[in-house]
Amino acid sequence: MLKLGIDIGSRNTKIVVYDDVSFSICHYAYQSTDISVLNSVNMLIKEAYSALNIGGDSIACIGVTGYGRKLYPKADSVLSEITCHAAGCKHYYPQARCVIDIGGQDSKIISIDTTGKVADFVMNDKCAAGTGRFLEMTALRLGCEVDALAALAGHSNLRLKLNSTCVVFAESEIIGMMATAISPEDIARAVHHSIVRRIAAQMASLAWEAPIVFTGGVAMNNDLALCMGEELGSTTLRTPEPEITGALGAAILARKA
Ligand SMILES: Nc1ncnc2c1ncn2[C@@H]1O[C@H](COP(=O)(O)OP(=O)(O)OP(=O)(O)O)[C@@H](O)[C@H]1O
Ligand SMILES: [Mg+2]
Repeated sequence: MLKLGIDIGSRNTKIVVYDDVSFSICHYAYQSTDISVLNSVNMLIKEAYSALNIGGDSIACIGVTGYGRKLYPKADSVLSEITCHAAGCKHYYPQARCVIDIGGQDSKIISIDTTGKVADFVMNDKCAAGTGRFLEMTALRLGCEVDALAALAGHSNLRLKLNSTCVVFAESEIIGMMATAISPEDIARAVHHSIVRRIAAQMASLAWEAPIVFTGGVAMNNDLALCMGEELGSTTLRTPEPEITGALGAAILARKA
């Protein structure tokens, strides 16, 4: 039985086709969320069916999550991002007790109890400081792509601290650093530390335990993942494709309406 999971995030729309018999992913893809959310979703679905050489009748049910989850009219299940990220992480790490999801606009920390159920969560959706938005602004300032920041920061030997807790002020601070010839490597590393400090502060308001799974687009950043492990005093596990974890969870949890 094939199930379709869709995660309509503020930054990217992700799709997963999941085989509920072999418990495996048959296809996945993502693209920027279009101004027209339905355009992004329909294009990804069309490409998925074409890649798998199937029609819509091969899909048993569709689960949708993400900030735009209510915008897709053909959903069988409309699911919370919390439950979907937890389910997607548990697919790879059944022993997971904590999930950190950092996307383009918000960050979520989910604690999971010993039976695998979501016990509690905290979410930061009011401030860009602990999110991918901060990385995007940094990349723009440093004149590189977001996916180049990890390699850049990997060459830093300094531990500089950004004092601003707000991305708008941090941008001015970064401009000031560039003006005093601080290297892009050291600036990128400082931004990574700033994001992980923010996440650690968010985690202080919740009871959590390792093993921690780090997910969402920002988890693709290897240097940030290492900084996260250092800050939390515990290595973070990552799913093979962190960006699609929510869509995978939506596929796993989807039920026929
Ligand atoms: N290769 C990469 N390396 C590092 N960071 C990346 C990479 N690709 C994407 N990102 C970051 O991931 C973010 C998008 O992640 P994701 O797709 O999980 O967000 P989203 O689900 O759309 O957002 P939200 O959950 O906040 O609504 C971008 O803001 C970017 O900073
Ligand atoms: Mg997301």
